[in-house]
Amino acid sequence: MSGNVVLTAEGLVAGYGEMQILHGVGLALSAGEIVTIIGPNGCGKSTLLKTLAGLLRPAEGTIRLNGSDITSSTTRDRLRAGLGYVPQVNNVFGTLSVEENLKMGLFAVPGSFKHRQAAVREILPSLNDYWSATAGKLSGGQQQVVALGRALMASPSVLLLDEPSAGLSPKATDDVFHHIRKISSVQGVGVLLVEQNAHKALQISDRCYILAEGKNQLDGTAQSIINNPVVGKIYLGAHA
Ligand SMILES: Nc1ncnc2c1ncn2[C@@H]1O[C@H](COP(=O)(O)OP(=O)(O)OP(=O)(O)O)[C@@H](O)[C@H]1O
Ligand SMILES: [Mg+2]
Repeated sequence: MSGNVVLTAEGLVAGYGEMQILHGVGLALSAGEIVTIIGPNGCGKSTLLKTLAGLLRPAEGTIRLNGSDITSSTTRDRLRAGLGYVPQVNNVFGTLSVEENLKMGLFAVPGSFKHRQAAVREILPSLNDYWSATAGKLSGGQQQVVALGRALMASPSVLLLDEPSAGLSPKATDDVFHHIRKISSVQGVGVLLVEQNAHKALQISDRCYILAEGKNQLDGTAQSIINNPVVGKIYLGAHA
């Protein structure tokens, strides 16, 4: 890890009602860094992002954003403090246009639509190709770009992205990952990426955490994870 640490989590314990899913998860993310979280289905990756975003309250543990303890902050306050979140499903307003979707990205934060949309269209120029279209009628890959654009409207310092390549073709996946890399390197946003498409995600990542059964199992540079023969066999499939 290098540079300014923008997000940390320590000892997160969280779940749904009586059911505990995270059993003490920790992580750190720096500005301009892409960190991928991989792990088997149901191990708690989405639960971790929901907890970081404030949709779930942890029973134990601490979350810090740019040095401030946000463990008890509302989702809206986290958004205002610079934490963007794109959920795994239902991440665009399907009946609204792309332009209206981006307007929604400003609903809880101060900012001029005119200025922000120009900045977001500059970093995601493909939005110009379907700016007036109804979001629900776009392809899966285009919808992911709209979801990224909406999150960027709030000028986040951290983006939490839950499986942005789910259901996308290899070409659309490459496009979305290219956009994510650009957001991180050009704007210095720290990106925490949950991905099933582990091999491709690691190609654009700096570091990786592997979760198993709601606990940290292993972490390291993306290259060290790619080169780890055991990890390669279990998590990276035939590509490793
Ligand atoms: N809203 C919910 N209420 C109750 N249990 C839930 C809820 N959401 C998830 N779970 C349970 O929590 C566990 C972890 O789910 P989570 O969605 O965090 O896994 P995941 O690692 O993101 O899986 P996937 O790779 O399939 O997306 C699972 O056993 C799941 O059934
Ligand atoms: Mg998930």
